[in-house]
Amino acid sequence: MSRAGLISFALYAGYAAAQTFSLCNPLHNASCPNDPALGSGIYNQTFTSTTAELNPNFWNVTSGNAETISFGQNGAELMIAKSGDSVTAESTFYIMYGQVEVIMQAAAGQGIISTFDLISDDLDEIDIEIMGGNTSFVESNWYGWGNTSQYNAVYHKCDGPQNGLHNYTLVWSKDEIQWIIDRTVARTLPYDKPGQYPQTPSMLKFGIWAGGDAKQPNGTIEWAGGLTDWSKGPFTMTVQSIKITDASTNTSSYTYGDTTGSYQSIKANPGDSAAYKFISKKTTIESAKESWNGLSDTAKIGIGCGIGGAFALLIIVYTAVCIVQRKRGRAEKAVADKQWNEHTEELMEYRSQMAKGQFAVSHMGHGEKF
Ligand SMILES: *[C@@H]1O[C@H](CO)[C@@H](O)[C@H](O)[C@H]1NC(C)=O
Ligand SMILES: *[C@@H]1O[C@H](CO)[C@@H](O)[C@H](O)[C@H]1NC(C)=O
Ligand SMILES: *[C@@H]1O[C@H](CO)[C@@H](O)[C@H](O)[C@H]1NC(C)=O
Ligand SMILES: *[C@@H]1O[C@H](CO)[C@@H](O)[C@H](O)[C@H]1NC(C)=O
Ligand SMILES: *[C@@H]1O[C@H](CO)[C@@H](O)[C@H](O)[C@H]1NC(C)=O
Ligand SMILES: *[C@@H]1O[C@H](CO)[C@@H](O)[C@H](O)[C@H]1NC(C)=O
Ligand SMILES: *[C@@H]1O[C@H](CO)[C@@H](O)[C@H](O)[C@H]1NC(C)=O
Ligand SMILES: *[C@@H]1O[C@H](CO)[C@@H](O)[C@H](O)[C@H]1NC(C)=O
Repeated sequence: MSRAGLISFALYAGYAAAQTFSLCNPLHNASCPNDPALGSGIYNQTFTSTTAELNPNFWNVTSGNAETISFGQNGAELMIAKSGDSVTAESTFYIMYGQVEVIMQAAAGQGIISTFDLISDDLDEIDIEIMGGNTSFVESNWYGWGNTSQYNAVYHKCDGPQNGLHNYTLVWSKDEIQWIIDRTVARTLPYDKPGQYPQTPSMLKFGIWAGGDAKQPNGTIEWAGGLTDWSKGPFTMTVQSIKITDASTNTSSYTYGDTTGSYQSIKANPGDSAAYKFISKKTTIESAKESWNGLSDTAKIGIGCGIGGAFALLIIVYTAVCIVQRKRGRAEKAVADKQWNEHTEELMEYRSQMAKGQFAVSHMGHGEKF
């Protein structure tokens, strides 16, 4: 490609991947709402075949639905099948510097893009973009203030991003950004590199779209690696786990102090964030759930028998089994009760769910909401 060709391609490529607007851009509006923070605590989620949905306490699914997001053995599966399809989830919380670790398998398919990025309200962006038709390279990119006239994409060797799970980690500080692929630092961007360094509170956004769809501009199709052949679909991106740490602890939200877009203008408002509260609560419930899952079926049936009333029908069906099992389950139940009593109100909530028969439902193959 000639140099001029490369530059015009670069311009298209920039436009192809960057987000170009936000609901309220603090560069243009001095009174945008605060950004809810992650703050203390670590968001650390492994998706499994029993996950029911992307928990709305943490994720806002802005494109896609229950049909296009499912959960399998390797994690959350984001699927697109026809022109115009895309699946996108955005975290409900923001971080101001920190770390993001995504274990995922990109979708295969020419022109299909699997991506995740940190993005702020004034359109600072730190990206990973994986082309479905390129089995040896993945792309890193960044933007400041949504300015796409700088071509910042770099391609990194990666062996079969569509053929297995890989670890993509972003480490973002006020001094530098690192893109780490399978534990190897692939790229480091220092703060003083020319251009607007990403430095404002950012949410994590991930998803799948077709840069190679025939309706996309030619430059986008070229950047994406060529036209998508929908007859070869559906195309699925699989996200096994996401771990996010906010460098700012004890922060409930972030405020832009002015319209400069500078890190110096960002105020971290102290307190526990909503996300942090959900994470802490979840941890308590999860440990109760783990002790439940750790029990034998004998004990579970025994406990179910003890609870009785709430699901009379099941009890009628299982009465004969119960008489035998209840006795055997009692010893395990006693141990479990002891552990349970050490917990507080969340636990009671959990037990009341159990009493309402939600366990029986979940045990029969529906997922949990956590
Ligand atoms: C600034 O943002 C606030 C909050 O979203 C909104 O109510 C207001 O209309 C915006 N002002 C301008 C000039 O866009
Ligand atoms: C994150 O979750 C994984 C899988 O559940 C677990 O092994 C790991 O210890 C967790 N890490 C932290 C820091 O909580
Ligand atoms: C989810 O995203 C939509 C579209 O961007 C937005 O209108 C809505 O406020 C978001 N909801 C939450 C809980 O963040
Ligand atoms: C994969 O990306 C690299 C880096 O941009 C490029 O040199 C190579 O031609 C691409 N391969 C395919 C099959 O698109
Ligand atoms: C965008 O970046 C280019 C290249 O660094 C720079 O020349 C231009 O002034 C920037 N535009 C804005 C609006 O900041
Ligand atoms: C992913 O890579 C990061 C950075 O090297 C590392 O700290 C983390 O432990 C890795 N995660 C897993 C699950 O291997
Ligand atoms: C896009 O590519 C097609 C096929 O190569 C070509 O016919 C068309 O003229 C191109 N359009 C533009 C705007 O470059
Ligand atoms: C968190 O912030 C609150 C509100 O300013 C303060 O009262 C509390 O001591 C802080 N907690 C920690 C652990 O720093």
